[in-house]
Amino acid sequence: MSTSALDPTELERAALAAVLAAATEEELDEARIRYLGRKSELKLALRHVRDRESGMTLNTLRERVEAALESRLAELEGARRERAGQEDGFDVTLPGEVFPRGHLHLITQIRREVEDIFLGLGYEVVDGREVETTHYNFDGLNFPPWHPARSPRATFFLDDETVLRTEVSPAQIRTMEERRKPPIYMISTGRCYRRDTLDATHTPTFHQVEGLAVDEGITLADLKGTLLHFMRAIFGNERAVRFRTHYFPFTEPSMEPDVSCFLCNGGGCRVCKFSGWLEMGGSGMVDPALYNFVDPVSFDPERVSGFAFGLGLERIALLRHGLPDIRLLWANDLRFLEQF
Ligand code: DAH
Repeated sequence: MSTSALDPTELERAALAAVLAAATEEELDEARIRYLGRKSELKLALRHVRDRESGMTLNTLRERVEAALESRLAELEGARRERAGQEDGFDVTLPGEVFPRGHLHLITQIRREVEDIFLGLGYEVVDGREVETTHYNFDGLNFPPWHPARSPRATFFLDDETVLRTEVSPAQIRTMEERRKPPIYMISTGRCYRRDTLDATHTPTFHQVEGLAVDEGITLADLKGTLLHFMRAIFGNERAVRFRTHYFPFTEPSMEPDVSCFLCNGGGCRVCKFSGWLEMGGSGMVDPALYNFVDPVSFDPERVSGFAFGLGLERIALLRHGLPDIRLLWANDLRFLEQF
């Protein structure tokens, strides 16, 4: 075989085309054997080269094909490594794993919403104590000695003078003592404890929001307007509020506020027991006995007046979401909790 039988330009074109067309390392190896192997046209021609010029031409041709093989090999190896990585489940281009995130419990959501509403009215949010003395839980709130709530059958006593608070109202007394003088506009939220038997509407642990406003010239109209604003923020703008007289040791007069039923708009339905109204808790004008207990000079009942209210957060949740059973809030069942 002689070099004259070989067309270097045509051979280079064919070799480079084969290298580029190789889709796998095996195909590339085939192209290498075919164009640079011991029995390849090029190698045979090189073996028979006699003159310097055709030797140079063929060697340059060999170098170009070798370089093309090298770079194609690098490409194919890179692609193979990437594929292997993906098969391992490791693909750096995928977005990171999203960890499941929980959310706040419905009661916490409602507590924060309630706090926001009163912050918007200029109230401060204060913390009370879940473990309270009978001094603040009963005496300061004007509970008479015979009041049934003082019984260990109704209240969890830790010792003779220490209880798990039965309501958030003691925060009223502590706040007045701490601030020492009016004006006071505060709410306090948190857990309370009573020795109630667990059923669809009672849990021994529950949550309340307690509110207190003490200033000069506060009237029952302010209480009603404040509760109306609150009920509308929680249950919608069409709500109305009414009062029914009641008795609490720490307010005089005392009232239970009702909100017009948001389900039937007052027309009557099962939730409001066909009365058109929903009972929401307790309220009233602060009894002067509380001012006398705290400091009758700074809180001179002739000069200052105030209102207070206490509402259950579970009750808001039950009504707003039409929940049939308060125990759902405590069962820790994700199928329930995830709905809110
Ligand atoms: N503490 C009362 C209860 O738990 C609710 C209450 C009624 C709070 C009247 C008040 C109030 O501040 O003025 O049943």
